[in-house]
Amino acid sequence: MTDISRTTRTVSEEELAEQRAYTAKIAGWNEAFLAENGRERRYYIQTFGCQQNEADSERLAGMAEAMGYVPVDTAADADLILINTCAVREHAEERALSITGQFKHLKERNPELIIGICGCMVSQETRKERIKHSYPYVSILFGTSMLYRLPQILYAYIAGRKRQFFLDAGDPGCIAEGIPVRRADARKAWVSIMYGCNNFCSYCIVPYVRGRERSRRLHAILEEIRGLIANGYREITLLGQNVNSWGHDLDEGVEFPDLLAAICALEGDFRVHFMTSHPKDASHRLIDVMAENEKAAKHFHLPMQSGSNRVLAAMNRRYTAESYLNILAYMRQRMPDITVTSDIIVGFPGESEEDFEKTLEAVRIARCDQLFTFIYSPRTGTPAARMEQLPEKVKQDRMARLLAVQNEIMLEKNLACVGKEYMILVEGLSRGDRTMYAGRTDGGKLVHFPADPDQSLTGRVIPVRITAAETYNLWGEAVL
Ligand code: SAH
Ligand code: SF4
Ligand code: F3S
Repeated sequence: MTDISRTTRTVSEEELAEQRAYTAKIAGWNEAFLAENGRERRYYIQTFGCQQNEADSERLAGMAEAMGYVPVDTAADADLILINTCAVREHAEERALSITGQFKHLKERNPELIIGICGCMVSQETRKERIKHSYPYVSILFGTSMLYRLPQILYAYIAGRKRQFFLDAGDPGCIAEGIPVRRADARKAWVSIMYGCNNFCSYCIVPYVRGRERSRRLHAILEEIRGLIANGYREITLLGQNVNSWGHDLDEGVEFPDLLAAICALEGDFRVHFMTSHPKDASHRLIDVMAENEKAAKHFHLPMQSGSNRVLAAMNRRYTAESYLNILAYMRQRMPDITVTSDIIVGFPGESEEDFEKTLEAVRIARCDQLFTFIYSPRTGTPAARMEQLPEKVKQDRMARLLAVQNEIMLEKNLACVGKEYMILVEGLSRGDRTMYAGRTDGGKLVHFPADPDQSLTGRVIPVRITAAETYNLWGEAVL
């Protein structure tokens, strides 16, 4: 192990070479299978959770392909199934366990099948024990900081036929560069700029399962993005739980606005997004860099969580509703057309009717383009889970009221887009109607427009004039 920064462990070249050696061994094993059976071994990855997990699954896929596996669309046809789990809410965990349960019969039908579970859920002590004991047909289990060791874990299982547990609860984590990546999209790319979180919001499990904040080096990030641009990627999304603290653990003297400016200075036709930014340190400087650089997408995801200062304090968020709204005001002053999205939690322990009404009021003032709304879900081991909980009925009722307020705002905002022109990244033909294309604005608004499928617009960025609007959809005409 070598330390390149003050606090972060970087996986050494020797350790990476060791993983490549395991990769080669498994590739040989898979080649022999191909020669014998006339087909390649196949992998299937099921991903839950946030973009960070999607980015991790692209690395799992990259490693699987380097080991000679080929992708397959249905789990039933796979020789290797990996379930990349999320622990942020109970529902996410239940879904992952239910899918795992459904894979049991596949293992009974094909004892050679290897099923693995990884991701955030596995990095919790209690869940790990449950999976170990209740899902004996799961052969490998590994936590988030063990991801780069997939070749070794798989090899240990194949060679020894013994279940492998590479767990990491309490591990501060590391950085592994140079892992193969198989990207799911040809135009949009995730780029993790940092891992982990140090904020310990009182409701949140992420710091416990993702370890401490650790930033990738500036040159490593720029090198990856240069490669993406050269390969035709148009939309780069920088990922981190709190991108504003990027660089704080490095000895390079650079901060997130510097990184964003450096990326925007790269040659090429692309836009750069980032998420997530914590309101406690979303600075004017960051907003200025966005405003001054055309390549910075005019989209800001800034989770508010609550509009009550009492609840924000209990959540350990370290900002107030007023300071949150001030940041929004400055953003809109510098970039009048910016798209703002946010997260809200309803039903946090102790949230009174008055607190909730403050949230509704703040939501009305903020007028976000989209809200991601969550009912508070107690997470074992976090401080909020030990507080007195609200009744389910109250939580459900508040959620419905919040959605009604936000839907009204979204419809008004979408109607105001009618007659305006937006640059749209075309995602493909609409699923329901093959004479319509679907694409998104910089801010992520979904836009449908008619076009000849033969024009092959997919992946291009084109101007579209908006002609009609609903709460969640815009319609328009391409201005070609
Ligand atoms: N790092 C990001 C958020 C990651 S989790 C940030 O700080 O904004 C994504 C969202 O899930 C959070 O913003 C929060 O709104 C929600 N969330 C996190 N823990 C939750 C819990 N225990 N119950 C309900 N929602 C939760
Ligand atoms: Fe969770 Fe807070 Fe960290 Fe976001 S900043 S991941 S909400 S602890
Ligand atoms: Fe879930 Fe882990 Fe992301 S808990 S939200 S997948 S960081």
